[in-house]
Amino acid sequence: MSGVPSEFIDLVRSKNDIVDVASKYMTLNRRGGSFWACCPFHNEKTPSFSIKPDGQFYKCFGCGESGNVITLVMKLENVDFLTALEMLAKNAGLEMPTSEEGEEMRRKKHERDRMYQILKLTSEFYFNNLKNNPNTPQAKYLLGRGINDEMINKFQIGASLNFDDLPKFLLKQGFKVEEIVAAGVVGKGDYGLYDFYGGRLMFPIFNGFGDVVAFSGRSVEASPEHTKYKNTPQTLIFNKSEILFGYNFLRDLKRQHMLDTVVIVEGHIDVIMCHQAGITNTIGCMGTALTTLHARKLKQLVDDVILCLDGDSAGNNATYKAIDTLKEVGLNVRVVRLSGAKDPDEYIKKFGKEKFLEYLATATDCVDFVLKDSAKKYDFTSNADKNNYIQEALNYISKFSTPAEQEIYLSLVQKMVKIPIDALRKSLVVSEKPIVKQEEVVLSDTEKNKYLLESKIMILAALLYKKIKNVDEIAGIFNSDDELSELYKFLLEKITNNKDYNVSTLFDNFTITSSSLIDKVINYNFPQDEVLTVMLHDAIKRLKIYELENEKQQLTKQMLNAGTDDERYECLNKIKEITDKIIKEKM
Ligand code: UTP
Ligand code: MN
Repeated sequence: MSGVPSEFIDLVRSKNDIVDVASKYMTLNRRGGSFWACCPFHNEKTPSFSIKPDGQFYKCFGCGESGNVITLVMKLENVDFLTALEMLAKNAGLEMPTSEEGEEMRRKKHERDRMYQILKLTSEFYFNNLKNNPNTPQAKYLLGRGINDEMINKFQIGASLNFDDLPKFLLKQGFKVEEIVAAGVVGKGDYGLYDFYGGRLMFPIFNGFGDVVAFSGRSVEASPEHTKYKNTPQTLIFNKSEILFGYNFLRDLKRQHMLDTVVIVEGHIDVIMCHQAGITNTIGCMGTALTTLHARKLKQLVDDVILCLDGDSAGNNATYKAIDTLKEVGLNVRVVRLSGAKDPDEYIKKFGKEKFLEYLATATDCVDFVLKDSAKKYDFTSNADKNNYIQEALNYISKFSTPAEQEIYLSLVQKMVKIPIDALRKSLVVSEKPIVKQEEVVLSDTEKNKYLLESKIMILAALLYKKIKNVDEIAGIFNSDDELSELYKFLLEKITNNKDYNVSTLFDNFTITSSSLIDKVINYNFPQDEVLTVMLHDAIKRLKIYELENEKQQLTKQMLNAGTDDERYECLNKIKEITDKIIKEKM
């Protein structure tokens, strides 16, 4: 499927313990033989996401997500199979295999690697420009903004001094024109190649691992003729809806156990000034709306965020939107609305970092914020307005708060609208947040009998977890054309060829959703061993009888429709044989 030999995939999996990998993204608590965490894939307060070290797989009992270490990395990093495999291979110190089938894979990887290389070299190029040319407008501008050397180094801030040097430099490094254009750093116009950011102050954008994936170039003119910031468009390695400015530094803090809250601001310079003020848990949304992907990335690291967007009305609207997005992934959100300065950068400059820290400490819970802030739109001397506000407030409360919190918020609303709290409470529609809908298991016609299906699941689970080895005995049971038979064939192949296998192997070979039968096999809850032995014996027997009876029914039909006596006689003989077998089984 991926062009990578399955042996290599197995090797990568065996060298990456799922518990180790997962613990880089979330806090795991051991309970019994499993590790538990709040699910990174849906909104929850109590952990229902479990990792079984012995099976090397995860499963969320809330939303049904499940998979192995590779799918975990795919989902958490939002990358494709190969990228996840590559990351895990790297983690284990393994080289990706080179093979004929891996050609396309290698080509893609090569293309990506070259792009990373271009971005890295470009970033160094800009950085050196700035360092070596202190009298340029770019360097002077930066000085004027009060950014110190430590921050220049930390954020690798650089300068594009003109339109010509960068393309020349990159071509000299051996890159092709198409490559440097595709990387988003060089443009191609009527007069040839030009630095896409010519003359700007350059901020590299890093991915979570600290690789440069894009740039934002700020104009250093007082009133820029062109846009204030020029940003790298979407490329093979940069998707702005999943990158947050400064996220790589959060990971460092997390590793040092020094991260519990993240402060979200809008601009690059806001982020840098916050870091300079010692508030190193600050990231920037780069002036765009926060996406669910952004929110999930944050949720992987923390439970609490503080929104500190610009003080203008655009910032206010952005705050409302961001609250929804962040709350939906289960983050606790607090809000700071700036006054007296348009953004954190200006605030720190005007009032100092101590005052800014004090200001951050006053951050209010987001529901509280919305209830008070949205009230400003309404005139409570008008009954209609009052009613509209109550509707809006109650909607918000039911959407985002626990029953205990609801009481607090209701009393807040009550104080504003002066309506008895009981009346408010009655109007509060308790809307359960829909968790990912679980699909019904659809049984095929031949599997209408629930008992038979359950028996099959139990038998396969026993095979999978190596509680039985008698594959031959059960062969006849799995001869239909369904998912479970596929699984049986898969296990049979492993067992007869003496290959090792475990649960996590399955995720590479089957598409397993919460509604698939294989998921039921994986999560089969075994009874005690003695009970299991009896149940298995019983199940195998019943399934065999069921198959024989099916066969008998077919033959009976065939006999009744037979054209000749000979044919009829042959059927009858077979029926007799089968009936004998059935009797034997039943004994
Ligand atoms: P702002 O317009 O608030 O810029 O945009 P700023 O924070 O005042 O910038 P400075 O402090 O004058 O340098 C906030 C963020 O929105 C994005 C940038 O990421 C910026 O940091 N933005 C803004 C753009 O991408 N393009 C623009 O033209 C403007
Ligand atoms: Mn700003």
